Amino acid sequence: MTEKIVLITGATRGLGLEAAMQLLQQGATVILTGRDISKGNEITAKLQQNYPQADFMPLVMSEPAGMGTIYEQVKAKYGRLDVLINNAAVTSTRSSTETGERATNTILSMDIADVKSIFETNVWGLLQLTRTLLPLLQESPAGRIINMSSELGSMHYQSDLTSPVYHVKRFGYNSSKTMVNLITIYLRELLVNTAISVFAVSPGWVKTGMGTAAACLEVPEGANIMVRAALEDVPENGFFTHDWQAIPW
Ligand SMILES: NC(=O)c1ccc[n+]([C@@H]2O[C@H](COP(=O)([O-])OP(=O)(O)OC[C@H]3O[C@@H](n4cnc5c(N)ncnc54)[C@H](OP(=O)(O)O)[C@@H]3O)[C@@H](O)[C@H]2O)c1
Repeated sequence: MTEKIVLITGATRGLGLEAAMQLLQQGATVILTGRDISKGNEITAKLQQNYPQADFMPLVMSEPAGMGTIYEQVKAKYGRLDVLINNAAVTSTRSSTETGERATNTILSMDIADVKSIFETNVWGLLQLTRTLLPLLQESPAGRIINMSSELGSMHYQSDLTSPVYHVKRFGYNSSKTMVNLITIYLRELLVNTAISVFAVSPGWVKTGMGTAAACLEVPEGANIMVRAALEDVPENGFFTHDWQAIPW
């Protein structure tokens, strides 16, 4: 059993919710966050029946002005944070009929306003939240920042004809994950002589709302990478798949 205090963004469905449940089962205190407050409260009330240490705090990743509130709440209630899991993300902020589906979401045809909107959540929200919560991670004896990335963000895979994701050129989402990788590298360098480790991980292609029913992996298998990265004694640096294989940046 662990006494770790873990905060997960985008935890009201998909991989974030599943990771929260697995971490609660391991004894962690989990602060689920999300933008749907009534859903978050309802899910957390159910979880608390078995895991009284489940908690919920509202958080909209695309609204950095509200992030100070999360800092104040976590500080007042827990005094520190051991693990921050930056999980919340979007592939597009517009409906597929508006964007013309994936085929037209290329570097030449994509809607730049949509790409900017994706970055608000996937990149700037992630960076702002990490900066805001860093003082609480510094209070932990062994803090961890886990950034949910994707093979689609790998510059190596995007330029390698033999890569399984070479042909998936969804510029908005992919470039947002490339930025998540760069943020991971830069943070890692800045925090190298501290007690805080920084990882980028990919869950693989998972059957969530984002991954769709066509995906290969079930949700518990994909979410387990977050649990391992949060709790296990894992390599100190890098970008890893759901079965902890290194992914080229
Ligand atoms: N599924 C895959 O195959 C796959 C593959 C590679 C990487 N990933 C990564 O894994 C992570 C989780 O993906 P998933 O498959 O679980 O996606 P998902 O089912 O679409 O869930 C995304 C979560 O992010 C939340 N979210 C989105 N925008 C937000 C915002 N502005 N503020 C707060 N919360 C927001 C959503 O909340 P709402 O319910 O309010 O929308 C939801 O809880 C993401 O970082 C994704 O890029 C997934």
